[in-house]
Amino acid sequence: MERLKVEHLFFTYEASNHPVLKDITFKLLEGEALGVIGLNGCGKTTMSYCLCGIIPHYLKGKLEGRVLVNGKDTRETPLYQLTTEIGIVLQDPGIQLLMPTVEDDIAFALENHNLPREEIRERIYRTMETVGITGLKDENPNNLSGGEKQLVALATVLALNPSIIVFDESLSMLDELAARRIIAVMQRLKDEGTTQVIIDHTMKGFEVYDKIFILEEGRIIYRGSKDFVLQNKEFLREHRFFF
Ligand SMILES: Nc1ncnc2c1ncn2[C@@H]1O[C@H](COP(=O)(O)OP(=O)(O)OP(=O)(O)O)[C@@H](O)[C@H]1O
Ligand SMILES: [Mg+2]
Repeated sequence: MERLKVEHLFFTYEASNHPVLKDITFKLLEGEALGVIGLNGCGKTTMSYCLCGIIPHYLKGKLEGRVLVNGKDTRETPLYQLTTEIGIVLQDPGIQLLMPTVEDDIAFALENHNLPREEIRERIYRTMETVGITGLKDENPNNLSGGEKQLVALATVLALNPSIIVFDESLSMLDELAARRIIAVMQRLKDEGTTQVIIDHTMKGFEVYDKIFILEEGRIIYRGSKDFVLQNKEFLREHRFFF
């Protein structure tokens, strides 16, 4: 089943006069995981905003082409409806955490989706355990470390159980142990049929990827198998990657 379809997507921010994304086209099926790599400023976060509807609903600019989430055009579907289908773990996890405690933050989105109280309780505890933050339950997210915030932001998205998840550099602040744990979660999500877009310029979770894109100045300049990328150091160096 086709979960995500992007057709000739171009995007220019309102404050700018040149496109940040240029002719992005791809599709992802149920259970597929796409790795996206690219240097700073190449448009990875902007692409993630387009996939989940933050662009054009929240951030303005000129959007051409279209993004279909489970067949729904993001332009024509309200953001609250898209959040039930596609979740995003933002690059800056602090933006995502608004409530006085970690528990409240995970509960917040679930309550907005009108789930029964028992189901909410069960999901909160299950996701806290999954990402390894049970001990942070009563903490104020503002007072957590960068990596801890990243784990809480992950939990808020996982608790919603969306059919598609976008991870924008979600392993960037995690220690080795936490990163391994989250990569195992990604692997399990894949087995359960969740479609994933994993943005990570270090390719830390590359074993999860089914395919990979290299984004350069807003264009997909390589698409294919991760094995090719890993085995062709020369090609990578040409594009200024040093794995
Ligand atoms: N709100 C905005 N208004 C205008 N230009 C923006 C805005 N946000 C980002 N840009 C520009 O768009 C380009 C792509 O930014 P983006 O954040 O998508 O890159 P990125 O690949 O995620 O980078 P990084 O690896 O540093 O996270 C950059 O040149 C940036 O300056
Ligand atoms: Mg980014």
